[in-house]
Amino acid sequence: MNPTLHRQKLCEQLDTNAAVIVAGSPQRIRSKNQPYRFTQNKDFLYLTGFHEPDAVALIRPGHAQPYVIFCRAKDPAMETSFGARLGPEGAVTELGANLAYPIDEMDKVLPELLEERQRILLGDEENRLSARVWGWVNAQRQSVRFDDRRVFRSLEPLAGVLHEMRIIKTDAEVAAIRHATDAACAAHRKVMAHTAPGVNERQLSMAFNAELAHWDCDTDPYPNIVAGGPRAMCLHYDENDKPLEAGQMLLIDAGGEFRGYASDITRTYPVSGQFSEPQKTLYNLVLASLDAAIATVTPGAPWGSIYNTARRVLTEGLLELGILKGELETLLAEEGHKRFTVHKTGHYMGLDVHDVGQYRLPSGEWRPLEPGMVLTIEPGLYIPDNAADVDPKWRGIAVRIEDDILVTHTGAENLSAAAPRTVAELESLVGSAPITRSVHVPSESALR
Ligand code: GLY
Ligand code: MN
Ligand code: MN
Repeated sequence: MNPTLHRQKLCEQLDTNAAVIVAGSPQRIRSKNQPYRFTQNKDFLYLTGFHEPDAVALIRPGHAQPYVIFCRAKDPAMETSFGARLGPEGAVTELGANLAYPIDEMDKVLPELLEERQRILLGDEENRLSARVWGWVNAQRQSVRFDDRRVFRSLEPLAGVLHEMRIIKTDAEVAAIRHATDAACAAHRKVMAHTAPGVNERQLSMAFNAELAHWDCDTDPYPNIVAGGPRAMCLHYDENDKPLEAGQMLLIDAGGEFRGYASDITRTYPVSGQFSEPQKTLYNLVLASLDAAIATVTPGAPWGSIYNTARRVLTEGLLELGILKGELETLLAEEGHKRFTVHKTGHYMGLDVHDVGQYRLPSGEWRPLEPGMVLTIEPGLYIPDNAADVDPKWRGIAVRIEDDILVTHTGAENLSAAAPRTVAELESLVGSAPITRSVHVPSESALR
């Protein structure tokens, strides 16, 4: 990541009348003096590369000292307890800030540094600064005679400008995403080999993250979803604490985060390593819809073509199998497939796993894909246990397959191709190195 380049590109889009204020995340407390693992706000990270909590950046396009940081002051006692702080001096030497102040001085200093700038762009996703910034904006009105100033300050969200930038990844960003996907592919392969009846979802969740550590990933970009059998019906299941059973499928939706950049990959396969015929049929239908959707990805193709292609393939298949009944075009027009497809088929991916950016143009049309976009494609089928009108052999099967796609100048590159996804690949890998459950837990009666 190159925050200097990001600030420079942002400034090129603004004139010298503008000032950008962007807030980092606070440190959240988990319980009595125990902090949660810190996650930085991604707009702030994109523009600063700074990983500490409770910081604010001010960017003044065209100014001789354009880059100002407010951060926690040095504090030896706190640093002994909770880790080193850069402090304002470090913000200058390490981050390249032109000016830096303790965060406690922000209310006094920042309004002065806005000088005569009239367009304030605020990045404050958690609404922690907004009231104060409104105060600074309004203070300008009250501090001058009403007829001395013809143009007053405006305040607008930074997202409009910044999130457009974040949609198109630089080469350095693609390199980080590529590593995050490579790491997650390796972790998926590891987990596939470890999967077997009796293994607990928790063991596979941890095994996945252990492999990420070998790839120098910072963390996981979202709580991984390791869902055996019916638990895969819940899209964001993350309890990950049940034993796997023969005959069930395992759905694992898990990615890595490297230097702040996410990957987001889903694979579904049988716990015992062998698909039943109904599982294989539905699996191959989802895979066909994924491949068809990936084939539509090329610069200029509308975003919506991905979903429309995937859902057409799924709806045709569901009709053929008798799971859906009716007429194809009517089902598509009325989204009659949604009962079994549940969600749409993807999102931008980058610093945030569900990355920022608009999917439609101001006209309401789907936005055309552009080289440098990174997105997921993730069709699924979920046949509930209680779908009384569906042949019982299909019920309880949930399949999602998710790949991470880079839009190139000529088409698409599947960044997650190294995570196996054909029936033959999965049947040969799943269970090839099963882990056993070797721990003994207290009996339920002892815990009552
Ligand atoms: N893992 C979250 C998603 O696939 O969108
Ligand atoms: Mn996912
Ligand atoms: Mn996703």
